Amino acid sequence: MPGPSKTPQPSPADPHGAPPVLLRHATEADLPAIVTIYNAAIATGQSTADTEPQTVDSRLPWFRDHSRQSRPIWVAQAGGAVIGWLSLQSFQGRPGYNITAEVSAYIARGHRRHGVATLLLRHAIAACPALGLRNLLALVFKHNAPSIALFTSLGFQQMGYFPRVAEIGKRERDLVIFGLRLAGDPPPRSAARLPRPAPRRPRR
Ligand SMILES: CC(C)(COP(=O)(O)OP(=O)(O)OC[C@H]1O[C@@H](n2cnc3c(N)ncnc32)[C@H](O)[C@@H]1OP(=O)(O)O)[C@@H](O)C(=O)NCCC(=O)NCCS
Repeated sequence: MPGPSKTPQPSPADPHGAPPVLLRHATEADLPAIVTIYNAAIATGQSTADTEPQTVDSRLPWFRDHSRQSRPIWVAQAGGAVIGWLSLQSFQGRPGYNITAEVSAYIARGHRRHGVATLLLRHAIAACPALGLRNLLALVFKHNAPSIALFTSLGFQQMGYFPRVAEIGKRERDLVIFGLRLAGDPPPRSAARLPRPAPRRPRR
């Protein structure tokens, strides 16, 4: 799998004649396509806590917050069109969390279930060591079954559960945090199990 600095490789030719998928770093010229794909997902109420359609201008600060060297955005391109994208975003924005990034992946509706998100995610995972990343987190609504299936298929494990923290279309929704450890060491046995507090000494 190519790292971020190498030439992107197209996926193998599709046996059904679909054009090969090329992965490359996003440029600002891709932002309209990125926003169109994102807005289609906002409209479903399943994918993101953004509730209103975004514009290219409103997403520009988000785009410029990314960089090829540490927090890239990649696009998947087929037949000259952007059909999906993946971003690695800083987690919490403070330096102590620099070893961890939040991953988001969005694929255009007509191109889903063709392995495009898997291709992007595998590409991102392979690039993580060079980006200084040891953990990827994915924040997913519990009712987003396709994303839960996607991330678990790539080895992400549930690390957090936040009931009823979002209101989307007047319905309260649960958030699940999935994580993937990339440092080569084994993942914690149970991310959800917190250390027990030491028993209190009886007062005398
Ligand atoms: C979730 C999403 C990114 C998946 O993209 P995709 O390119 O269709 O995913 P893939 O084809 O690589 O699917 C990989 C696996 O994920 C699971 N999966 C993907 N879509 C699924 C669906 N609709 N139902 C059930 N499982 C699904 C399957 O296990 C699939 O493997 P399979 O096709 O061999 O069964 C896409 O549906 C999407 O863009 N959704 C809206 C945006 C979103 O919610 N993003 C997540 C927030 S970060």
